[in-house]
Amino acid sequence: MADLVEIKGVTHAYRTKAGPLPVLNDLTISIPEGEFCAVVGPSGCGKSTLTRLIAGLMKPDSGEVWLHGERVKSPRKTVGMAFQNPVMLEWRTILENVMLPLEIVAPSMPRARREERARQLLALVGLSGFEGKRPSQLSGGMRQRASLCRAIVHKPEVLIMDEPFGALDAFTREDLWQLMHRLRAEEPFTALLITHDLRESVYLADEVIVLSDRPARVQYRMRIDTPSPRPIEMLYEPDSVARLAILREQIEIAQGRSGGAH
Ligand SMILES: Nc1ncnc2c1ncn2[C@@H]1O[C@H](COP(=O)(O)OP(=O)(O)OP(=O)(O)O)[C@@H](O)[C@H]1O
Ligand SMILES: [Mg+2]
Repeated sequence: MADLVEIKGVTHAYRTKAGPLPVLNDLTISIPEGEFCAVVGPSGCGKSTLTRLIAGLMKPDSGEVWLHGERVKSPRKTVGMAFQNPVMLEWRTILENVMLPLEIVAPSMPRARREERARQLLALVGLSGFEGKRPSQLSGGMRQRASLCRAIVHKPEVLIMDEPFGALDAFTREDLWQLMHRLRAEEPFTALLITHDLRESVYLADEVIVLSDRPARVQYRMRIDTPSPRPIEMLYEPDSVARLAILREQIEIAQGRSGGAH
């Protein structure tokens, strides 16, 4: 069976005033249904570009993107997105913000059912009682919890997260990592996570992909077969420590800094 997300030989360059800027170079990545894939790589190597291609917001110069056996050629409503700074509509309550994707994807769903679904997810992430608040009345961590609810409320084909925890303090971040595992148990999803945090990638992902510097190609892949949910203590076990060392080295190679080359 085909994998849920298939990126096949994707090459892309941005057209800039100074000429073409090659960003992705023959990139091939597959994510089986229900798997969690983390992508790490040097700053500016093309990670966010990759998320835009999967969501159908851009077309690659060459190569193909497939979702659930369908070629992606235009923006997909059935993709869930979460970013570092969640964009929430201030004139809507938290509950109404979370319901928004359902209004777009399932307009015929009765409001009561949409509301029930949003409330159920908010309860799952510990935000019961905050449904009627405005986004600015929540802390950064709470807003990110709500934004994760909004990203999965319509049961997207794939959940794409671009550094969703990057702006949070270390404790809140670890809280949300654990929440991701709980969410996965309750609401199985297929995910692609872009992150700069190697610990985050090892704790959350079934496969970690290291991209090279721009134009990005796949430089290294690491499978992590520990079943989800995972205890946070996993990060202190020798296996994880060894994995982190390998990934750190790979990032240094990607940045062209290995072997005392500079
Ligand atoms: N619309 C655009 N037009 C021209 N160049 C762009 C455009 N978007 C991004 N770039 C450039 O393409 C390269 C890759 O950008 P991208 O945002 O995909 O990198 P990234 O890996 O997500 O970086 P970071 O880790 O900093 O988030 C960068 O050099 C960026 O300046
Ligand atoms: Mg980016």
